[in-house]
Amino acid sequence: MRIYQAHDYHEMSRKAANIISAQMIMKPDAVLGLATGSTPLGIYRQLIDWYHKGDLDFAEIRSVNLDEYKGLSADNPQSYAYFMRANLFSQVNIRPENIYIPNGLEEDIEKECLRYNSIIRGLGGIDLQLLGIGTNGHIGFNEPGEAFETETHCVRLSQDTIRANARFFDSMEDVPKHAYSTGIKNIMQAKSILLAASGEAKAEALYQALCGPISPAVPASILQLHNNVYIVADEGAFSLFRERGKRIG
Ligand code: GLP
Repeated sequence: MRIYQAHDYHEMSRKAANIISAQMIMKPDAVLGLATGSTPLGIYRQLIDWYHKGDLDFAEIRSVNLDEYKGLSADNPQSYAYFMRANLFSQVNIRPENIYIPNGLEEDIEKECLRYNSIIRGLGGIDLQLLGIGTNGHIGFNEPGEAFETETHCVRLSQDTIRANARFFDSMEDVPKHAYSTGIKNIMQAKSILLAASGEAKAEALYQALCGPISPAVPASILQLHNNVYIVADEGAFSLFRERGKRIG
């Protein structure tokens, strides 16, 4: 595990974007596992900037998103498909046919999960998986307590997650209760993983993920077992390491 500390959100975003751009330069048709949430926004802005400067090319890149709310269509502004279009895809030269996101409108759960798993397999697996982390240690929408062996599945979102994500909706009641998410198994099969975290709200989750026992109670703790993980986080997210006397990196 390689751990990089950044001063603040801006620096965290640049460092993480550098790791993604290195992957894109080394393998122009890389399969990127992409994430949503506020954490990757700065990373995407940086990638867009480098694309506009001619330093990055998305023409051959394939992307597989981690998750999608069940029940939301791709043109619903709260959907992750919409988020990805608005914050990255519409601003770079990625080909629409190379973009994969779970279909939130598919009612047949088994069918959608099989479809998505076979897409990932058909692409030859994920080269670099970008992750944020939930305040309860979730990655993607893999909530505490779920089995590590899971592939794409339909998740019942925890109250913590619904509360944390309510800021993007008019009210807590509007947050969908279910989501499709790739599983821990899909994530762990990625050739490399980049977890980004910012701010004190993530400090406990990050501390437990990296220093605590490996347990489904903290889904991100499984990353301790992957042999090619980059952690990029800012001082806020690392604040408990300092308080508890743990070395960073
Ligand atoms: C959601 C997403 C996760 C993301 C998490 C944290 O639950 N499914 O992929 O990591 O939120 O989001 P944020 O970066 O906004 O804190």
